[in-house]
This record gives sequence, structure tokens and C-alpha cells, in this order.
Amino acid sequence: MKDLTKISNTIILLALSIFLLSCGGGDGKSAADRIKEQAQMEPADPYENWESNNGIGPIKELALPAEIDQNMVTSGQEVYENKCTACHKAEKKFIGPSPKGIFERRTAAWVMNMILNPEEMVQKDPMAKKLLIEYNGSPMANQNLTEDEARAVVEYFRTL
Ligand code: HEC
Repeated sequence: MKDLTKISNTIILLALSIFLLSCGGGDGKSAADRIKEQAQMEPADPYENWESNNGIGPIKELALPAEIDQNMVTSGQEVYENKCTACHKAEKKFIGPSPKGIFERRTAAWVMNMILNPEEMVQKDPMAKKLLIEYNGSPMANQNLTEDEARAVVEYFRTL
């Protein structure tokens, strides 16, 4: 009788440890996948205050005039096609995010700082940090645009 209890205890213990093992990392997911999943599960978090986040860099504030400047759009589009389309597509997510509708989730100053100062942004800005995780650690490249070029790209983004 004593032996039987012992055996059934052993079985319960065994079953429990198999159960625990299967929860704790035996599912073949990499650490990066886990971080990514976590980021996707928390959409509210650092994006929530985007309207008051101008990012970190040379642009402290940028209020866009109501009217879109077509000359700027043309030159911005040219810069974008030469220096950005290796990683960004207007209509869909590629190596980096699509800039379509970007001003519904980021301020113009934040976008400028992301273009002009991406290294510091992905290290210190909470939204850019999260973006880097979402994009599996592949960082936004500094294409050495002048402020005027970056401003023109912003104008072009307004038309997407
Ligand atoms: C080598 C690839 C690469 C190039 C070239 C590149 N980017 Fe990016 N960009 C990324 C990646 C990857 C991300 C997202 C991850 C991150 O921010 O680190 C990103 C993020 C961004 C963001 C933030 C988007 C968002 O939804 O918040 C903006 C804005 C941006 N890029 C603009 C540009 C512009 C403008 C150019 C051209 C001057 C450019 N990028 C060139 C890879 C690139």
C-alpha cells in the first residue's frame, strides 16, 4: 500500500514537471520572437503619448502649415526615391514601416528627428526603441539628409 502511494506520487510529480517544462520555453520560440510578441501585445504603451513626443534631435518643434507645398512634395519625393526606397515602400511594410498615414501616429518633428538622428532616437526615444524591437533590431539608417531635404520628405509623406 505504501509503495503504491509512492508510485502514484512519483507519477504526479513527473506529470507536473512535464507540464511545467512545456510551458517554460520548450515551444521552440526564440527570445526575439518573445520580445516581438510582447511588443505586439502592448500596443497602448509608449505610442499612447505620440502627440506630445517630438523625439530627440535637432528639431524641437514643427507645426505643418495647413496647405501642402507642391514644390516641396516633388523634391521630397525625389529624395525619398533615391535614399529611402531600399527599405521603405509607400504602400506597405517592408524592411522599415510604410510612411503612409504617418502623421496620424507621429508628430512631424519626431519624423524629422528619426530621419536626421536615428542612432540616438533608437537608443533613447521610447517609441523609436519599440519600433526597433518590432523590426527585429534592424535599425533605421542615417542617410545624412540636410534639414531642408528631411523637411521636403515630410511634405511628401503628407500626400501618401
Ligand atoms: C537600411 C534601411 C533603411 C533606409 C535606407 C531607410 N530606413 Fe527608415 N527605417 C528603417 C527601419 C528598419 C525602420 C524601423 C526600425 C527602426 O526605427 O529602427 C525605419 C524607420 C523609419 C521611420 C519611423 C517610421 C514610423 O512608423 O515610426 C521613418 C520616419 C523613416 N524610417 C524614414 C526614412 C527616410 C525618410 C529614409 C530616407 C532618407 C529612410 N527612412 C531610409 C530602415 C531604413
